[in-house]
Amino acid sequence: MARVFSGIQPTGQLHVGNYLGAIRNWVAVQAEHDCVFSIVDLHAMTIPYDPAELPQRVLATAATLIGCGIDPERSILYVQSHVREHSELCWILNCITPLGSLQRMTQFKDKAKQHQENVNAGLLNYPILQAADILLYKAALVPVGEDQVQHLELSRDLARRFNHLFGETFPEPQALLTRAARVMALNDPTRKMSKSIPGSFVALTAPPEEIQGLIRRAVTDTGPRGESMSPGVANLFTLLESFSAPETVAQFREAYEQGALRYVDLKQQLAEDMVRALTPIRERYTELMSRQDELKELLAYGADRARAIARDTMEEVRDKTGLVLGTSAAAPTAARAT
Ligand code: TRP
Repeated sequence: MARVFSGIQPTGQLHVGNYLGAIRNWVAVQAEHDCVFSIVDLHAMTIPYDPAELPQRVLATAATLIGCGIDPERSILYVQSHVREHSELCWILNCITPLGSLQRMTQFKDKAKQHQENVNAGLLNYPILQAADILLYKAALVPVGEDQVQHLELSRDLARRFNHLFGETFPEPQALLTRAARVMALNDPTRKMSKSIPGSFVALTAPPEEIQGLIRRAVTDTGPRGESMSPGVANLFTLLESFSAPETVAQFREAYEQGALRYVDLKQQLAEDMVRALTPIRERYTELMSRQDELKELLAYGADRARAIARDTMEEVRDKTGLVLGTSAAAPTAARAT
């Protein structure tokens, strides 16, 4: 069984874009692979955040992932900062990463523009920490969306560079390119659905009335009807394809082609099917969040399992990079004399 690693930021409010772009695939790969899934709180610190809120964001993220079907027994599910080896390997990789390769990262350039008042070194080094995440578990496969391909390329480069400098240690991780729908903002279908755009996203834990309201208000046609489907309508079809039965999708497509599609009908159907799909997730989430001690225990169990692997890797890495002070035979005479 190949080892799979992936990470997700603790936004605290995962949405259908996260689900269709990533989480759904995580749930699917669990059946065939040995999976390690991390809630990457250290990555979340690279942009301004409220420390008082972070713990709840982490717990809510964990509860949502489990609600979506991540099985914390079958897979290893844990919080990144609970396994200190991430930071340690990150530092070592820092020392073999060319600055230019970080400055070229499109995500860094975007985020630096977005947070001009706080372009910290963590934001620049973000992809090194990501490489450390993956290499710490010697993962062979990494399910990622297209926006992470460049970061994964750096992880591969760093594995190669480390092996070259210190001896064969890390496999080069491969992207596991899975079916991932690109879900757009409901209120601005030219941009990606995002937690930072209010009104753009449907949280996986949204109650039925909220789902219905968001879908009802979704932007459809903006200008006059053109030749091709407008981005808003295309986005609703993307969602319909993910949440509704194939016959339903076919029926609405046909109506669209005949020019007989009423957006209210499309929206009503979509909202109904989304409510049906998301209800079990919300219920499981609510249950887990009402028993946070159990949730914390589950994450502690995940961290223990992750740490066992991470420790072995770091022992090897420390040895290969010259951080181990030899054996007793090599101890200085002064120490041996007495
Ligand atoms: N940077 C990833 C994202 O924002 C999250 C992440 C952190 C990750 N470490 C990872 C993804 C390791 C894959 C592998 O989506």
